[in-house]
Formats: sequence, C-alpha cells, structure tokens
Amino acid sequence: MLGIENNSPFQERIDKLAINDFPLIEFKGTIHLVNSQESAAKIIPKLMKETVLGFDTESKPSFRRDEQFLPSLLQLSSKREAFLIQINKIKDKSDISMILANPSIKKVGVAIKDDLNGLMKQFQFAPEAFIDLADLARIAGIQNTGLRSLCGIMLNRRISKSAQVSNWAKSELTEKQVVYAATDAWISRELYMVFRKHGIVRKYNRMLKSGDTVSKQLKNKVEKAGLDTLKHHILFCSGNSAGRCCPKEKSQESLKYLQKRLRKINETTRTVYLSQVDCLGICNKGPIMVVYPEGAWYYQCTPEVIERILQNHLLNNKVVKENLLAVNRLK
Ligand code: FES
Repeated sequence: MLGIENNSPFQERIDKLAINDFPLIEFKGTIHLVNSQESAAKIIPKLMKETVLGFDTESKPSFRRDEQFLPSLLQLSSKREAFLIQINKIKDKSDISMILANPSIKKVGVAIKDDLNGLMKQFQFAPEAFIDLADLARIAGIQNTGLRSLCGIMLNRRISKSAQVSNWAKSELTEKQVVYAATDAWISRELYMVFRKHGIVRKYNRMLKSGDTVSKQLKNKVEKAGLDTLKHHILFCSGNSAGRCCPKEKSQESLKYLQKRLRKINETTRTVYLSQVDCLGICNKGPIMVVYPEGAWYYQCTPEVIERILQNHLLNNKVVKENLLAVNRLK
C-alpha cells in the first residue's frame, strides 16, 4: 500500500468490542487545573521545558446538527504532569498562544484540526509543531486511527470514554472529567513515543521534508475511495439547505436507501461513488439525481425508483426511461 509500512509492528484494525477486554488505563501523574490568570502564569515555565506535549481539547457536547460549541478546555500533558486549561477563565491567553506557536515544542494528538480551529476562533495564535497521530498511524499501516483504537492496538489498554459527552463548559469540573481530560492528552503523548520508538516519526519527518506526506496521504485517500475502480458517479440532491425539490424527509428517506444499497454494491470493489449535493438546479419533482458517465438525470427518485435505477442502469447499463428528465453523456 502507498506510504504504508510493510513490516508494521502494529495490527491494522481492532474490533471495538475487543477493546473492552483490555485493562483500563488512566493518567496517574500530577494534574494542574488552570482556571485563573495566576495559575496560567505558573504553568508556562514548566511547559517551556518540554519538547513533546500531548494535546487535546474538550467542548460542551452538542445534540443538534446546527449547534456546535467551541472548546472550553485545552489539555496539554508531559510525561508526568497534565495541564487542564479552562480557556474561558483566562483573560490574557498570550502565554498559552506562545506555547501553541512554539516550533520547538511538539504538540501531539488525534484529529487535531478541529481542536485547532475551535481554539483559533477564540484567540489568536499561529500553530506550530502540531502532529496528528492519525497521520503517523496511517504511515504505520494502522487503519483505525481514533485515540481509543490506537490505545488498544499499540498499548493493549483501554481508555475510558464515560466523561466524553459531559458538560465541559461547567465552571467546576468533576473528578471524573478531570481524569478523563488528563488521560486523553497524556495518552496521546505516550502513543507518540511508541511511534517514535518504532521509527514512524523519523519516517514522517522524512516524508515531510521531501514534501511527500500530503501526496501519500492523498494517495491513500484515493485508494480508500476506490477512485480507480469506479464505473458510475451519482450526484444526489439531498436538499439540505433548500429542500425545494421535495420535502426533506423524502429526500432523506431516498438518500438513506441509496446509501444502504451502495454499501452492498460496493462491498467487494467500489464501482459507484455517491456525492450528496445541496441542489442540482431542477428544484421540482424531487428527489433529483444524476448518474454519470451517462449524464442521466432522474426525477422522483423514491426508494422504489432508486432500486429500479440500480438494477437497470447501474448493473445492466439500461437507462430507466420512466423517470428520466434528460440524458446527455458529457463529451
Ligand atoms: S433542491 Fe433539489 S434540485 Fe434544487
């Protein structure tokens, strides 16, 4: 596989249930709760001494699609000390920005892009030396790149997720939240060290220097998406923003059906790629979908019609005339 360790010491995947059999691991070092300007000032000299810090953030959970909260807590961790910074309680965040922008202190965590975006919406800094463990995992040939999975695969341990959806915006954090938050940052650092021990960080740095990382990652994505085996591309109007071509529930029902059927059709080799779009410009008699390369535009794509299109058009190359708006193979 492209950019992947051939002789990886790690297994590629782990079953979620198998993780439950591993012993629980949690941070046992010193936890600093940083909730005032004074306490923030105190931790900076300690953080400045470190070369690698585990990194994570926690936000108040959202139970609605259109609602998202910014991080309330920033966690940084060395080997023995975890620093839980309640962002909203620190007025002047310039010292914290300095750590996050320091190129000599590596900050390591999983899926850090969203964390960084959330932080940068709250205060200014230019992130430096951030490493996503998911990138290292992919180089090591690991496919399950979530923190809990990596912990299971690399350490044969389980981290608790029980406080994950608790209210992180609360002024007073519970003991459970504190240990959970410290563990997530600390374990990220531990995992980074394991990657380092196995030469994955060296390989990552080499790839970074040669400008290879992005292209390899992209190639992996292309491979995963099966872009070189596709025969059809479907654009489906899910009408998320407008819902003009049919009631939203109808488009969702059809979309769910289409996704379910495509999972089956793509089971062994990926031959159909589905893209949801907001509007295909027809906005009448929906759901509307178009199938390429034939350029067949279909209307009223109920689950029954979709099944007919799949059976006839996609699997037998016969366009379904009854629901056809237009057909125009692009040249
Ligand atoms: S909203 Fe579906 S085609 Fe415009």
